[in-house]
Amino acid sequence: MSSQAPSQRNQIHFKCVVLGNSGVGKSCLTLRFVRDEFTEGQETTIGAAFLTKNVFLEDANVRIEIWDTAGQERYRSIAPMYYRQAQAGLIVYDITSRDSFDGAKSWVKELQRKGERDTVLALVGNKTDLKDKRKVDPDEASEFARENNMLFFEASAKDATNVEKIFQEVAKKVPRQVQTKRADVVPLRGPGTNEPAAPKSAGKCC
Ligand code: GTP
Ligand code: MG
Repeated sequence: MSSQAPSQRNQIHFKCVVLGNSGVGKSCLTLRFVRDEFTEGQETTIGAAFLTKNVFLEDANVRIEIWDTAGQERYRSIAPMYYRQAQAGLIVYDITSRDSFDGAKSWVKELQRKGERDTVLALVGNKTDLKDKRKVDPDEASEFARENNMLFFEASAKDATNVEKIFQEVAKKVPRQVQTKRADVVPLRGPGTNEPAAPKSAGKCC
């Protein structure tokens, strides 16, 4: 239990981008976390979707601003818009698809080359409910994550295994000094965003 009353804790927020091949379950993981929902046959994402959720940690109330990106190849060139200035990134693969694991590795390399130096990265092997069809050894994935200084989780958006934990552990690892106060949150909007941005503040600048 925290020694601080919930209302007295720091109010902070950070941007978390979700990347990975199409069909690995990025949207399902995000929707499981934000709304505790799962849809068989979830529709492919166009551009990106923006969702938020508050989590309550020992030292802070954290608002996680999630950019669930589109994994289809045609959207690859716009991905930097979402991972730039992200304090956290989930790189997702499907444990039943070797190809998607190779895709995750390539996302990690791209973020290391072009992303922010301090982004907290987590490698997430999704669809553990399909363990009979497993093609990616968890030890191999965990080793890859360790070598690249990433957190590692296996999860299932379908049965909710580990989904809350992924975001909680990432939130704990994001350095507090790069986060800003809740009052400073500026709603973001990108092309193809599936959710409307909040209304602009009527307040004047400076
Ligand atoms: P794009 O938006 O195209 O990049 O795909 P995505 O990574 O967002 O995948 P999405 O969440 O749309 O899921 C793709 C398919 O996998 C859908 O049919 C989901 O129902 C299914 N799916 C997602 N997560 C799981 C899971 O944990 N277990 C199982 N069995 N199926 C899942
Ligand atoms: Mg999607």
